[in-house]
Amino acid sequence: MANVVLRLGYRTIKQILKKFNQIPCGVMMFLSKDRPNFVFEYEYIRVSSLELMANEIYDKNIGGSVAELGVYRGDFAKIINVAFPDRKLYLFDTFEGFDKRDINVELKNNYSTGKQDFSKTNVELVLNKMKNRQNCIVRKGFFPETAEGIGDTFSFVSIDCDLYEPMKKGLYFFYERLNNGGYIMLHDYNNKGYNGVKAALREFSKEKKVPYFPVCDVCGSAVIMKL
Ligand SMILES: C[S@@+](CC[C@H](N)C(=O)[O-])C[C@H]1O[C@@H](n2cnc3c(N)ncnc32)[C@H](O)[C@@H]1O
Repeated sequence: MANVVLRLGYRTIKQILKKFNQIPCGVMMFLSKDRPNFVFEYEYIRVSSLELMANEIYDKNIGGSVAELGVYRGDFAKIINVAFPDRKLYLFDTFEGFDKRDINVELKNNYSTGKQDFSKTNVELVLNKMKNRQNCIVRKGFFPETAEGIGDTFSFVSIDCDLYEPMKKGLYFFYERLNNGGYIMLHDYNNKGYNGVKAALREFSKEKKVPYFPVCDVCGSAVIMKL
């Protein structure tokens, strides 16, 4: 590690890190000692934050299922599934990409272009990644329609659906059903490509008087806790 630093110089390393948003493997190896969900990827801070929230939830015996709204190919959902091996995991997604109704709101408010293609996925591909597949409940289709009839409460929810409408509706739906001591982790709060996320959380926070905390992961998540 020291050799690499000496040979390349700190400035070059800083430039590489800036370009790829990554931590060097040596540092990652050190950080990953005894870490079951460790990933060698730029998602390190996001995953580590999830692990610490899971620890809190188990230490304090906070009950409830877990969920992700915005699953795409299941790469974060599979980590939630491992971090909460004894909890039901609800998976909400169209599995066909953004819906026109949500895109129209984006365009009208200049939040984003709504052009990113998330259609290259399917339910089986996602379920095949799950270590505890028996825990998964798939809600395929347009959220919030797919949330109808859910009577469960939650301890951890990841909302990662990029657009203002489902983000805001997701915040209201899950916060109502979040147990005290539970967390909602909202992806892209500080992502300049998806300005509707910040608008949705700020409005929700003001309306419900709920504070949140920004996280320094790659797309700038924010976390809400219910007291
Ligand atoms: C950025 S991707 C999710 C990435 C995933 N969480 C991960 O970390 O790998 C956003 C997903 O939100 C889904 N989505 C957006 N709006 C939705 C809605 N109204 N109902 C259901 N799914 C929606 C899209 O289909 C897309 O798969």
